[in-house]
Amino acid sequence: MKITWLGHAAFLLEGSRKILIDPFLTGNPNAPVKPAEVKTDLIVVTHGHGDHLGDAVEIAKVNDVPVVCIHELSRYLSKKGVEAVGMNLGGTANFRGFRITLVNALHSADVEEDDELISTGQAAGTIVELDGVRVYHTGDTDVFLDMQLIAEIHNPDVMLVPIGDWYTMGIKGAVKALELVKPRYAIPMHYNTFPVIEQDPENFKKAVEEAGLTIEVILLHPGESFEL
Ligand code: NI
Ligand code: MN
Repeated sequence: MKITWLGHAAFLLEGSRKILIDPFLTGNPNAPVKPAEVKTDLIVVTHGHGDHLGDAVEIAKVNDVPVVCIHELSRYLSKKGVEAVGMNLGGTANFRGFRITLVNALHSADVEEDDELISTGQAAGTIVELDGVRVYHTGDTDVFLDMQLIAEIHNPDVMLVPIGDWYTMGIKGAVKALELVKPRYAIPMHYNTFPVIEQDPENFKKAVEEAGLTIEVILLHPGESFEL
């Protein structure tokens, strides 16, 4: 599987299929591609915040592919003319060649539109299993002890973990989250997009080593890929 970081919390997973998660490109100063350039077979959106929902509607329409998300957000997206597949926490959807699970996240989740807040359910994380590799994208979240349960049930190989602080856990929480989940690889996300989430990812890598964890931290620049 090839995992490409498209900046912030956006990732493209490529194997026998392509799966795009949280495609916030327009408005992200670090986005390496434009929405129209992204090719995908399916989109997963963890929650309704603009920096996750991002360009999902446009990309779904251009590629003519569905968006998988929590039920309430799927109702909102259906009204935008998108084929939205609503699920809920703990559920797994089997597609040809891959599986998508939504899991808990400790975060808020409303959509903001025309200065109004629209309730779109709860924030989620997702486990994507593609070609036998399991990737845990935590979504925006604080660390929580039940990550241990998520790890026991889903045994992820790779964890995509926010380190930016302010809106999510920072480095200290992210190290604790890795301790609970124990993936083989971890890729930090949700940092350096905006001034309030500035973070040196080298400090995260150092903190993981100092915690004595045998987890390989992969640092990517937006547009770079990790293959496993
Ligand atoms: Ni958020
Ligand atoms: Mn966010």
